[in-house]
Formats: sequence, C-alpha cells, structure tokens
Amino acid sequence: MTRYSSILVALAASGVVAITPEQMLGAPRRSEAVPNPSGEIAYFSVSQYSFQEQSSSSAWKLLDLKTGDIKDLALNGSEVSEIVWLPGTETGIIYLNGTNEETPGGVSLWIGDALNPSESSLVASLNAPFSGLKVANTSSGDLHFLVNSLAYPNGTAYNPELAPKPRNTGQLYSNIYPRHWDTWLTKERYAVFAGTLSGNSSYSLAQPGLRNLLQGINFTVTRPESPVQPFGGSGDYDISPDGEVIAFLSKATHLNKANYTASYIYLGPFDGSEVPAPINGPDSEADDEGHKGASAVPTFSPDGSKLGYLQQDGIEYESDRWKLYVVDISEDGVSASNWHGIASEWDRSPDSIHWAPDGKSVFVSAEDFARTRIFNIPLNASNSFTPKNLTGVTSVSAYSVLPDSSLLVSASGIWTSRDYYITSIDGSPKILFSSTKVDPELAGLGPEHYDEFFYTGSLGVQLHALVVKPTNFVANKTYPLAYIIHGGPQGSNGNVWSTRWNFQVWADQGYVVVAPNPTGSTGFGQELTDAIQNNWGSYPYEDIVLGWEYIDANLSYVDTENGIEAGASYGGFMTNWIQGHDLGRKFKALVTHDGVSNTLADYASEELWFIQHDNNGTIWDDRENYERFNPLDHILNYSTPHFIVHNTLDYRLPESDGLALFNILQSRGVPSRFLNFPDENHWVLDPENSLFWHQEIFNWINYWSGVGGPLDDNAIGQ
Ligand SMILES: *[C@@H]1O[C@H](CO)[C@@H](O)[C@H](O)[C@H]1NC(C)=O
Ligand SMILES: *[C@@H]1O[C@H](CO)[C@@H](O)[C@H](O)[C@H]1NC(C)=O
Ligand SMILES: *[C@@H]1O[C@H](CO)[C@@H](O)[C@H](O)[C@H]1NC(C)=O
Ligand SMILES: *[C@@H]1O[C@H](CO)[C@@H](O)[C@H](O)[C@H]1NC(C)=O
Ligand SMILES: *[C@@H]1O[C@H](CO)[C@@H](O)[C@H](O)[C@H]1NC(C)=O
Ligand SMILES: *[C@@H]1O[C@H](CO)[C@@H](O)[C@H](O)[C@H]1NC(C)=O
Ligand SMILES: *[C@@H]1O[C@H](CO)[C@@H](O)[C@H](O)[C@H]1NC(C)=O
Ligand SMILES: *[C@@H]1O[C@H](CO)[C@@H](O)[C@H](O)[C@H]1NC(C)=O
Ligand SMILES: *[C@@H]1O[C@H](CO)[C@@H](O)[C@H](O)[C@H]1NC(C)=O
Ligand SMILES: *[C@@H]1O[C@H](CO)[C@@H](O)[C@H](O)[C@H]1NC(C)=O
Ligand SMILES: *[C@@H]1O[C@H](CO)[C@@H](O)[C@H](O)[C@H]1NC(C)=O
Ligand SMILES: *[C@@H]1O[C@H](CO)[C@@H](O)[C@H](O)[C@H]1NC(C)=O
Repeated sequence: MTRYSSILVALAASGVVAITPEQMLGAPRRSEAVPNPSGEIAYFSVSQYSFQEQSSSSAWKLLDLKTGDIKDLALNGSEVSEIVWLPGTETGIIYLNGTNEETPGGVSLWIGDALNPSESSLVASLNAPFSGLKVANTSSGDLHFLVNSLAYPNGTAYNPELAPKPRNTGQLYSNIYPRHWDTWLTKERYAVFAGTLSGNSSYSLAQPGLRNLLQGINFTVTRPESPVQPFGGSGDYDISPDGEVIAFLSKATHLNKANYTASYIYLGPFDGSEVPAPINGPDSEADDEGHKGASAVPTFSPDGSKLGYLQQDGIEYESDRWKLYVVDISEDGVSASNWHGIASEWDRSPDSIHWAPDGKSVFVSAEDFARTRIFNIPLNASNSFTPKNLTGVTSVSAYSVLPDSSLLVSASGIWTSRDYYITSIDGSPKILFSSTKVDPELAGLGPEHYDEFFYTGSLGVQLHALVVKPTNFVANKTYPLAYIIHGGPQGSNGNVWSTRWNFQVWADQGYVVVAPNPTGSTGFGQELTDAIQNNWGSYPYEDIVLGWEYIDANLSYVDTENGIEAGASYGGFMTNWIQGHDLGRKFKALVTHDGVSNTLADYASEELWFIQHDNNGTIWDDRENYERFNPLDHILNYSTPHFIVHNTLDYRLPESDGLALFNILQSRGVPSRFLNFPDENHWVLDPENSLFWHQEIFNWINYWSGVGGPLDDNAIGQ
C-alpha cells in the first residue's frame, strides 16, 4: 500500500480531496484485461460518459504485461463490440463489428492483428445482432465459433430491425411468468449459434451459415434458452479447445420458470450430428445424489478431455451454495462420465472456473469476507479440502490464467475503479495499473479511508461491517452516520467499486458510511445466508440494531444523533421495516430504493421461487409467513422523513410498493419525496438519471442530517 501514500501526499497538497457523484459517474470505466495466448499483452476497453458532451465514448487499449505500459489498440470503439484473441497466434484477433453493410441490424466478423488493426478484413456478415463470441481453432485449420442471439420459435435468429411491425401492442399470456426483470416475454428466446470459418487462403463463413444449437431439444414446460436471461452471456456456454464439442446452460425444460431455478449443462458435438443432451438433468447421477438446482459456467479443460461446472442443490433456491463438479468428456463429445464433486464441503460459493494450463487444478473465484477472491483447487482434492485465498484486500472482477500458471487479475475496491495485477499461487502481486493513480476524477481516494469491524450478531456469530470515511476526514471531528443496508437479502456490502452505490461518494458528502453484513449476507458461510429464510424482519433487524449500538458505543468519530439510513431492494424493505420500528427514530432521514413495502403484494413479482423460498411457503398455505414481517403493519409508527425511489421498469418489484408507501407517508404528514424513473429498472444505469438520483437523495439526507443546505425546489408540485 506504500505505492498509494506518495500520490496521496501530492494530491492532498494540491487540495483535491473529495469525489462527487459527477466525478464518479464521469470517470473512465475499464473492462477486464484479456491476455493474448503467450501472456505478453492484454486488451481492455474503456468507456466514459461526458456530462459536458452528454454522450459516451469508448476505446480499446493494449496493456503490456511486463511493463504495465498502455497504448491504443486502434480499433473504433463505437464499432467494435467484442474482441477475441485468435487461438494459436500471438497477436491475431477476431472481433465483432456492430455494423453490417449488407443487413441492417446485423453485425460482422473481422480478423486482424492487434498490432496492426487497420489491416483487418471482413470474414463474415451475420444477419442478426449476435454477441458473446467464442472461438476455437481446429486441426483442419478451420475456425469454429459460437455466438448468441434471440431466435424465433423456428430457430432462425431474430433481427428486430427486419421484423415486421405488429399492428397492435397487445401481449397475451396463458402461462405464469409473463415478464422478468425489465422485459415482457415475447415468442423469441435466446439461443447459441455455431458457425465455421473455412480456413483456406483467407477465412470465410462456411455454408450453410450459423446453426442454432438448441433446435431439436424436446421440452414439456419450458422452451430451451441459452444464455439464461436476464444476466446470462458467453459464460453460459463454451467450446472445446479443438472446436469439436460444445456445452451450454439451459433451464429445466420440465419445470416452469416462475417456480424453479433449476438449469442443466447440455453437451453435444459441434457438428450437430447429435442433439445436445443434459449431463446433470433428471435421472443423471448428479440428480440422483440430490444436486438438482441451477448450473453455471461450463468450462472445458485445456486438452478438452474434461468439463468443469458449478451447480446448486436446491431446485428453487437461487442463493443455495454453488459446488464445483468435473466430468470426463467422450471423444465424440456426446457423453460424460466419471462425474464427481471437488472440495464440495468448502463453505464458499464459487462463481467462475478457469483451468490451470496443466489441467491438474482449477482456479475459482468466490465471495469471501466482503470481497471476491481467487482460490486454487487441485482436481484430486478431497471433498473436505479447504482452498486458500490467493488474493487479498480488493475484489476480483475477472481473471485469466497465463501460460506460466500465474494470474492476470482485474480487480476493484472502494478506492479504485480498476486495478490490473499479476499474481500466482506463491508469488506476491505485481501491480500493473491502478485507476486511482491516473484518473483525475479519483484523485485523493485511498485505502486509508476504509476500515472494517466485526461485532456479535443476534445469532451469536461475528458479523462484518465496513466503514468508509470521507476523504477529508480529520480524527478530532465527528461525521453523521450513513448506515447502508444491502440488497439480496442474500448479498453483501463489500470492498468493491460501484457506480450505483459508491460508498466513498456517500462519505464525501460529509458522512461516515457504515455498511453491515447482517444475517442473510453471502461470503461468510452458507449458514448465515440460509438463516434469513422466513426471518426477513427478525435476525437481520436485530443485527442492524446491534451494529448501530456498536457504532454508537465504539466509533468516536461517528455522530449517531444526526445519522441517516438507506437501502435498495431488500435494503429498501429493511428501511421500510426500520421506519415502523424503534431504530427508525435514531435517524434523521431514510432512503428506500425499490423496496418491498407490502409483503402481501409479493406475488406481483415473477420470481415466485424467491418469495416462496424466503417466506417458506405459498401465500395461500402459509399466509402468516407473509404477514409476519409486513412493513405496512406498522404505519402508525412512521415518522422519520423518507425519500422513496421506485422505477417503472422494475418488474421484479413493481412500483406500486413505492407508491403505496409514499401515499401513506404523505397522508400522514411525514415529510417525504418520491422519485420515479420511467426508463430504469431495479437499477439506475443512465449517467444523467444516476446524477439526478444522487443529487436528489443527497439534497434530502444532507438537509435532514444538517450536513447541507435547504431542500431544493426541484420536486413537481401542485
Ligand atoms: C467510429 O465509428 C463511428 C460509427 O461507425 C463513426 O461515426 C466514427 O466517425 C468513427 N470514428 C473514427 C475515429 O473513425
Ligand atoms: C490452427 O491449427 C492448425 C492445425 O494445427 C494450424 O495449421 C493453424 O495454423 C492454426 N491456425 C491458427 C490461426 O492458429
Ligand atoms: C466495421 O464495419 C463497417 C462496415 O459495416 C466498416 O466500414 C468499418 O471499417 C468496420 N470497422 C472495423 C473496425 O472493422
Ligand atoms: C422463421 O420464422 C420467422 C418469423 O416468422 C420467418 O421470418 C422465417 O422465415 C422463418 N424461418 C424459417 C427457416 O422458416
Ligand atoms: C475456401 O473456402 C470457401 C468457403 O467454404 C470456399 O468457397 C472456397 O472454394 C475455398 N477455397 C479453396 C481454395 O478451397
Ligand atoms: C423429441 O421427441 C420426438 C417425438 O417424440 C422424438 O422423435 C425425438 O427423438 C426426440 N428428440 C430427442 C433429442 O430426444
Ligand atoms: C408453483 O409452486 C407452488 C408451490 O409449490 C405450487 O402451489 C404451484 O402450483 C406451482 N405453480 C405451477 C404453475 O406449477
Ligand atoms: C494431487 O496431485 C498433485 C499433482 O497435481 C500431487 O502433487 C498431490 O500429491 C496429489 N494429492 C493427492 C492427495 O493425491
Ligand atoms: C487471504 O485473506 C486474508 C484475510 O482473510 C488476508 O490476510 C491474506 O492476505 C489473504 N491472502 C492473500 C494471498 O492475499
Ligand atoms: C484537529 O486536528 C487537526 C489536525 O488533524 C488540528 O489541526 C486541529 O487543531 C485539531 N482541532 C482541535 C480542536 O483539536
Ligand atoms: C464496543 O466494542 C467492544 C470491543 O470490541 C465490544 O466488546 C462491545 O460490545 C462494543 N459495544 C457495543 C455496544 O457493541
Ligand atoms: C419451513 O417450513 C417447514 C415446514 O413447515 C418447517 O419444518 C421449517 O422449520 C420451516 N423453516 C423455517 C426457516 O421457518
């Protein structure tokens, strides 16, 4: 950390201390760094929003993995959406160009050299907005690739620009699950498509073009779909290094999508000679042994002989523990054998798999004590094996394994939007890049404003909380508490950079942010996560009260008299619960972003698996579970000024919950404001919207806490 101190001194001397919402939102955002096959250079993208220009720009960069030097990869950042290193070459690349001269709404594939990208040539014109490129070189010299797109029920890729405009806007449903996240379901589903680039003198797309790998899979209830929506991408499928075998993820075809999270890994030959079949579906060894839930990240070993993947046990529990499995793949890519779990008793939930070059171990990342860390797991590890963390204080966003088995890590933390570093099983990290050193918007940030503490929670276990102090913190002053509750509830507050809930930006308004990890949190063992079931308002609330008492007694620099509390999603539910309970009287203001106010309205969500799991039953058989922790049952206690955000495109948690709460607060004379974004979902992503979100929330809390000036007159009146 000494590297940071020298710049800090310099920055403090120049008087640059705090980060504003505008600086945070206008700072460069850098992607994962992806190394070339020899591990000498890596590319990454950087995008940036300009409030002055009111537009975003993006560019591709090359990072020298020896020196940390960065130079431009001269490909037009608004045209090139994805780049893949060409397997077998040093600096060859294949990329997706988001424009297509022949087909409006299509994309094109180009091949070139990262060191001379202006010489790239067009190799394929694709007639729909495909994305998620994965490429393998074959022994014949042909390239095999996978991409994904929405597809019509007949399997043909769907190009919205060419689709005829319907004459009415009616959407008719006869099945549960008409909409999800921010999208009403249509007849199209996502599918993985396979294509071949013939590699004779120059590459070109072999006839008959792209093939939908999901065609021909039978189903009874749920049509096969991959990537799984809304968050699935190219991590939901893989191609073997020799290009001959494919694997992808799709939800259980015999279960409805509202009640169940179960999904399976499908395996099949690239050439389509067999219809892909699930390796861990009903009647498989995995299923027989009770491993029936969602699957993830199918990943071929370097020699293609094995496939690693993750699976949860519970068929309807989205936050069950992920466990690591490996199978052997037959030569023809049709069947899997020798299915077995590895380190299955390890009390962490891995979320990625990368094979070591020798194929004898895998690297996984998992949440661990409020950050994501990397671990190494040998294939011969027993079920009781406990992997050791290879990374430390910041949070891993993505990583790649280099030819010498070291790791190129892309990370972030409260004080850095992006770090790139190389580390290894026994080596110490070599930092190549840290955004805080180069981005003027981040000047003054550093680990010295960050702290953590543990305290005893309601169940007697040690609970974690993180603390973020303002950048201009002085020890002999006090700062009002900004107490921030995370969503999920199976989630965490961690040492990670966020453009939605950036704790340093909150702290720099003049607060000490404390962000606890109460019962229900992830990364501290499955027991703590599971203990929130049927207990949304009990243990976590008690933990949050105990955390507040700890701060009040032990953090001398925190002013708990003038504190505020805020939370989104489950954190919004908890804020609404706090408003009706004693802890609500300890705060000058509350902020709810997209939170449940009426648990009896839970069935307006489409994720029934979630509410039925978390309430341990249905609202008709176990109604008392839904009534027990209903914020609307405590209206008579509501009295703390309350700012409510609820967005129209939040289909998991419809805006009626925010409106009901606001209407009640207004009716009862409790100072309150309601902020709606008609074009945002559960999250506020547009930079201009996000800036308004920050400005209005900060205006509210700063007024009531006494940190800032008067309330603004931006609200729409009479
Ligand atoms: C990049 O591509 C966009 C879209 O095709 C185009 O408008 C822009 O001029 C290009 N920029 C450069 C520097 O070529
Ligand atoms: C692909 O593999 C073939 C056979 O090993 C080889 O001849 C060819 O050069 C490779 N192509 C690339 C782009 O590496
Ligand atoms: C992208 O494709 C367009 C044609 O659709 C072409 O003019 C442009 O040069 C391509 N850009 C790159 C970086 O390949
Ligand atoms: C698939 O359906 C779409 C939409 O109805 C249609 O435009 C397309 O021609 C069909 N493709 C085939 C191969 O039948
Ligand atoms: C190269 O491949 C393309 C596409 O399959 C084909 O049209 C062409 O005839 C091939 N050329 C040679 C020389 O084999
Ligand atoms: C799908 O069902 C049809 C009709 O029952 C059957 O002929 C076909 O073999 C099945 N396909 C697969 C991949 O099981
Ligand atoms: C969903 O699950 C609930 C609870 O198990 C059950 O009562 C309901 O019938 C299921 N819905 C469908 C459409 O299968
Ligand atoms: C596991 O394999 C490694 C080599 O990859 C070997 O060094 C180690 O002894 C093996 N451990 C066990 C328990 O077999
Ligand atoms: C692993 O985590 C611990 C804290 O839990 C930390 O002290 C240690 O430095 C980490 N190990 C590495 C290699 O970063
Ligand atoms: C508080 O600390 C600063 C140095 O951090 C010092 O300059 C100032 O005099 C102190 N104020 C009081 C009231 O002690
Ligand atoms: C204050 O911290 C001490 C030491 O960690 C702890 O024993 C005590 O319980 C804390 N006070 C409260 C009210 O949590
Ligand atoms: C959930 O319901 C089952 C059956 O009624 C009961 O045995 C179990 O204890 C409940 N779990 C929780 C966490 O309430």
